[in-house]
Amino acid sequence: MRTLIKGGTVLSATGTSVADVLVDGEKIAAVAAPGVFGEADEVIDATGKYVMPGGIDAHTHMEMPFGGTFSHDTFGTGTTAAAWGGTTTIIDFAVQAKGTTLQSTLDKWHEKADGNCAIDYGFHMIISDVNDTTLKEMESCIGAGVTSFKMFMAYPGVFYSTDGEILLAMQKARETGSTIMMHAENGIAIDQLAAQAFAAGKTEPVQHGLTRPPELEGEATSRAIQLAKVTGSPLYIVHLSAAQALAAVAEARNAGQNVFAETCPQYLYLSIEDMAKPGFEGSKYVASPPLREKSHQRDLWRGLRTNDLSVVSTDHCPFCFEDQKVLGADDFRAIPNGMPGVEHRMDLLHQGVVAGEITLERWVETCSTTPARMFGLYPRKGVIAAGADADIVIYDPKAKQTLSAETHHMNVDYSAYEGFELTGRVETVLSRGSVVVSAAGFTGSTTHGRFLERDLNQYLS
Ligand code: URP
Ligand code: ZN
Ligand code: ZN
Ligand code: ZN
Repeated sequence: MRTLIKGGTVLSATGTSVADVLVDGEKIAAVAAPGVFGEADEVIDATGKYVMPGGIDAHTHMEMPFGGTFSHDTFGTGTTAAAWGGTTTIIDFAVQAKGTTLQSTLDKWHEKADGNCAIDYGFHMIISDVNDTTLKEMESCIGAGVTSFKMFMAYPGVFYSTDGEILLAMQKARETGSTIMMHAENGIAIDQLAAQAFAAGKTEPVQHGLTRPPELEGEATSRAIQLAKVTGSPLYIVHLSAAQALAAVAEARNAGQNVFAETCPQYLYLSIEDMAKPGFEGSKYVASPPLREKSHQRDLWRGLRTNDLSVVSTDHCPFCFEDQKVLGADDFRAIPNGMPGVEHRMDLLHQGVVAGEITLERWVETCSTTPARMFGLYPRKGVIAAGADADIVIYDPKAKQTLSAETHHMNVDYSAYEGFELTGRVETVLSRGSVVVSAAGFTGSTTHGRFLERDLNQYLS
């Protein structure tokens, strides 16, 4: 089966050109000047549209256990919503429960995801129980294609690791060339602030933000960077939200350290004011790190331009307002942490192009090409080039759309971006050569997605 995508503007991290793309089976066969290719089984006219590599969302949580409940998207519903929004690969997190092994964790996550994904997927491993077995098992995880490990400086008693435990895992990361991903917030100090607020009768959602000040993200980020420096481990800061944390990352990168960071659309477009909405509405915006004052957004956009922020992921972790967020109705500490977003990352970042914050190339780079390289998937993913998987998005840059829970495909009862009017829209999506989204709607299948065994970080110096 040969598909010809004709006349579109092909985007890459380094430039754009009008070209035809020939897909043969699951792969891109060739890219050439318009008119070079002859017959094909199917022809898609992409005139006036962008033809870009499918998005790679390197930070999602489908069916994640948290606070006595599970994030509401299954691998099936979440990957289908991702496809609707032009994301053709996710990297989700397998979560080690205390007292269990990494192998049993990996087995459990394969059971959830295998045969249930609409697009290709990989795993990171969350380490929450550092011991000799866990450290040894990091090696077998890497052999199984799970080459990055997330640790938490937040959530004492749940996912939290001490500095000593982090140091041990970082030494193993250094030894194996794998990457430590860090949730960098000082959870010990935050828990005290949160307990004080609650004791003073302050129970509403905005307290979640007020008790997690940006300084405590900056402090933890700096500490993680120093631990990585001492051990020589590569470090990737996840969901960076605060200017203080960005400054620490920029300083380390300027000094030549292998430190990388991602941010998420919610930190670019939403703020602590959303968390302060009346009633219990603010709970919809409770995630960690919390939404910040709007002043941080300028720094984050600048970080995306300077590459101190090199990836945009969603941290998609949806909890329904009606029956999940409500668990914290009387105590903000019990609101499940997380927000939905996997469907709208490509569109939201396109607004950055429209507004002149980032270039088209940077859009592709931060949302697809860099995540592919960062997490060992390049050049199979993240680029429109001969030999790559035919994960392709045909994007109409002029279309208009309004985001709403009524029209989105994520399995959650609200949109954090309700009423946002956007310019640009996904028109057609191919996953390994198959059209999965088009004018006909979703025509893919939740048995189509395959597990991706990943290589090591391809940026390490
Ligand atoms: O609030 C968040 N971010 N929930 C998901 C878990 C995490 O820390 O990434
Ligand atoms: Zn986190
Ligand atoms: Zn997360
Ligand atoms: Zn429910």
